[in-house]
Amino acid sequence: MSRTELAKLIRERRAIKKGYNDKKVTKETVMQLLEESIWAPTHGMRQPWRFLFVDKDHLPGFAKKIAATYPEERQENRENYLNEPNAILVVIMKTSDIPKQWDENFGAVSAMIQNFWLLAWEEKLGIVWKTNPHIYDEKVKKILNVKDNEKIAGFIHMGYFDEVPDEKGRIPLADKFEVFEG
Ligand SMILES: Cc1cc2nc3c(=O)[nH]c(=O)nc-3n(C[C@H](O)[C@H](O)[C@H](O)COP(=O)(O)O)c2cc1C
Repeated sequence: MSRTELAKLIRERRAIKKGYNDKKVTKETVMQLLEESIWAPTHGMRQPWRFLFVDKDHLPGFAKKIAATYPEERQENRENYLNEPNAILVVIMKTSDIPKQWDENFGAVSAMIQNFWLLAWEEKLGIVWKTNPHIYDEKVKKILNVKDNEKIAGFIHMGYFDEVPDEKGRIPLADKFEVFEG
């Protein structure tokens, strides 16, 4: 059976975690991709996302500030790590006191990020959704002006790349699929 282009894209998309080259990731490219990505499903039309883009020129200062929230012995390592990508997109999600709405918001943000990931892949722009400990740190939230009713859903590390990593495969669906038989 031949796969549709979309099915191929879904399968071939990879997380690009290292090996970023020097080609600049521009604000214009990221905004173009986000213009499409925000057509993700969103319950109550809440569209519970906002974005903070950090380009290559501003990454060193950003990395220093975020790294400074770690214990001293980790700071150099974390600063270098945050300087590896060409740009970082901070995805900020609206939280809720109502668990149902929180879950719906995280679901919508996840769908939006997957859209972004696939569209970036089409443009040969590598990205990875990162959930490092710093995204949960109140000090980091303060530095980035994340409000009390918001959370950082992730740092999206971005960069163009020369080598596609090997795929990791998936557990066969048959191992995870049952039919309810009453
Ligand atoms: C919600 C979420 C959080 C993730 N957080 C991290 C992370 O903190 N660090 C990391 O290296 N990769 C992270 N990833 C990327 C996964 O490790 C990656 O998608 C997985 O290894 C499968 O590889 P593939 O995307 O290339 O198929 C995250 C992915 C998701 C969906």
